[in-house]
Amino acid sequence: MNRETQAVGLDIGTSKVRCIIGEPSDGGVMNIIGVGQADSRGLRRGIVTTTDAVAESIKKAVETAERMSGVEIQIATVNLSCEHLQGENKSGVVAVAGVGREITTEDVERAVQSASAMQLPAGWKIVDRLPQEFIIDGQDGIVEPIGMHGARLESRVHILTSPSAGGQNMVKAIHRAGLEIENMMLEPLAAANSTLSDDDKEYGCALVNIGAEITSLMIFGRGAVQHTTVFPFGGMHFTKDIAVGLRVSIPEAERIKHHYGCVAGFLFKGEERQEIIEITPVGRQETRQLSKEILCDIMQPRAVELLQHVAHEVFGSGNQISSGVVLTGGGSLNRGMVEIAEQVFDAPTR
Ligand SMILES: Nc1ncnc2c1ncn2[C@@H]1O[C@H](COP(=O)(O)OP(=O)(O)O)[C@@H](O)[C@H]1O
Ligand SMILES: [Mg+2]
Repeated sequence: MNRETQAVGLDIGTSKVRCIIGEPSDGGVMNIIGVGQADSRGLRRGIVTTTDAVAESIKKAVETAERMSGVEIQIATVNLSCEHLQGENKSGVVAVAGVGREITTEDVERAVQSASAMQLPAGWKIVDRLPQEFIIDGQDGIVEPIGMHGARLESRVHILTSPSAGGQNMVKAIHRAGLEIENMMLEPLAAANSTLSDDDKEYGCALVNIGAEITSLMIFGRGAVQHTTVFPFGGMHFTKDIAVGLRVSIPEAERIKHHYGCVAGFLFKGEERQEIIEITPVGRQETRQLSKEILCDIMQPRAVELLQHVAHEVFGSGNQISSGVVLTGGGSLNRGMVEIAEQVFDAPTR
């Protein structure tokens, strides 16, 4: 593969592994020339449980994308998420030395490093350092300190940590699938980069990525990440509720959810509430009938509960979300999710 001309993204989610190959075209836009996906195996809530199974899923997704595009890939930017990701805000300070005291790239790196000097639980490591602001000789709110004058440089940094073994096992699985890693990107950050505007990040907003087994929350404000939490629930919980409530298999519950699911009863218009859907209970040949309203009665409380957990975390963090809530991930595709989130967060949601 020619690395100058192609970009490859690999998204290792809890439900699907997806691969996408892009090629730059005129006007600085990217042409998508290949996509592939495979069911995600060997992962539980983003943690590798069987390396070979994960490698197999990656291979399948990559091969499909390669066939479609006609290019062979060796290297990819990888999008990762895991249940145990944690964010913390830290600060550090360094003295700026040198003639004229102009702040250099090295000074900034030292200031960020000094904020990351923290006690980590055994087996944990720092996965990303996201600078929030710099303070030069007491002057706060500085975004780009390089080249400025000053003697004392403070940094405020959002530090993301996770168990190091999880990352190593993931790297091993990717290598075993025959790929090199160009760059690693945390899923909520990737989702934020593709959906949030600079204003959203400046005025404050909550990005909620609802995957299959985990939901990640990233709160932005003053142009930077202020808070990160990952919850051990997601779209799969709706599927399980439907499977138990209607005595159907998981694949049948998934089908019902995608085709007829709704988490907000007030969206039904006229007769739709009573519309009949056909389902096939476990171990039966014949179908059974039920109304859309009954399905909604199963799903709605779960949506409210899930979003209330997230909202509780947002309000507890003390951050303002003037730009509202942005839902991403497959779990946000449930009909009515945006409307319920709007009520639960009491904030504009999209
Ligand atoms: N149209 C849809 N309606 C409702 N749920 C959906 C829809 N499409 C996908 N989902 C759900 O989204 C989840 C997968 O989301 P995704 O963001 O791909 O997860 P991950 O990143 O964890 O692999 C699954 O629980 C799936 O059932
Ligand atoms: Mg995902």
